[in-house]
Amino acid sequence: NEDIITLAIETSCDETSCAVLRNGREVLSNIISSQIEIHQKFGGVVPEVASRKHIENINIIIQQALEKAGVTFKDVDLVGVTQGPGLVGALLVGISSAKAIAYALNRPLVGVNHIEGHVCANYIEFKDLEPPFTCLIVSGGHTYLVQVEGYTKYELVGRTRDDAAGEAFDKVARALGLPYPGGPIIDKLAKEGNNLAIDFPRVFLEPNSYDFSFSGLKTAVLNYLNQAKQKGEKIIVEDVAASFQQAVIEVLVEKSIKLAKERKSHKIVMAGGVAANEGLRNLMKNRGKEEGIEIYYPSRVLCTDNAAMIGSAAYFNYINGNISNFHLNVEPNLEL
Ligand code: KG4
Ligand code: ZN
Repeated sequence: NEDIITLAIETSCDETSCAVLRNGREVLSNIISSQIEIHQKFGGVVPEVASRKHIENINIIIQQALEKAGVTFKDVDLVGVTQGPGLVGALLVGISSAKAIAYALNRPLVGVNHIEGHVCANYIEFKDLEPPFTCLIVSGGHTYLVQVEGYTKYELVGRTRDDAAGEAFDKVARALGLPYPGGPIIDKLAKEGNNLAIDFPRVFLEPNSYDFSFSGLKTAVLNYLNQAKQKGEKIIVEDVAASFQQAVIEVLVEKSIKLAKERKSHKIVMAGGVAANEGLRNLMKNRGKEEGIEIYYPSRVLCTDNAAMIGSAAYFNYINGNISNFHLNVEPNLEL
């Protein structure tokens, strides 16, 4: 029962991040260097630019994480790194660094599924949270409804058939002429708008399905904007944001509640960038209260990409015997 100090690295998209954890839940440092400003010029993440920036930053970020945690390389017991999903060149930077460190220190290496990392952010936030629970994972690249059976055991119940929830936010924001990433801006605008102003479709798919589909909603928003422009009608951006957001979150919340009830689960846990959404948090909390289900979601920094969540996932995989070797390679299309 010795403490395990984990050094974790996350470079799957546009954040270069390194964290140091004591065991699975205690964060000693979590340094996040965002490239958002660089990519904003292009309206989205440019993979080649992301890889180059990761290379420039990674050693500095690792050094900062060690310093902030008050440890040195010698104190590190375990190295965790995001293996996928994500951008291949970006992931390679993290994996190469992690391998070099683990090899030089002669310490175990654990390749982490980024999506599992998002779930584990909740173990950091809630020190007593334990599986089983129902989990809604909503990020820029993924939308999953899962039943979490154990720390490394997931039953995938539903997923998006087209766009991810965050992707829908980003695409609608782009159509409204708002900068990347659109989710946080739509969230803010929605608070000032009327969510009943425009009746956008709620796509529930087949009655028994836990899958999602957001591309039809995105198209409905684009059609609304085009028609309003043609007719010379004034577009109230706040109302579009609020009505669009409401259509997304009602479906996310009702499917999560339905699964929790079906599985007699008393906990719904949210994870991923979109779990930072104020509207989603509030609706889920209110519905949870009505149904007697407790709702969990991490603080904002732990919702979006960070290495602390990767460190937590690395720890739980390590103690469950999931250890990688030096053949570890990037898995850009890894699923949960
Ligand atoms: O988890 P994340 O940082 O990266 C991925 O693994 O994809 O999620 C980023 C996504 C983006 O699509 C961003 O627009 C969305 O999360 N997002 C939000 C909010 N904050 C971030 N969406 C809605 N409301 C927010 N407050
Ligand atoms: Zn993510």
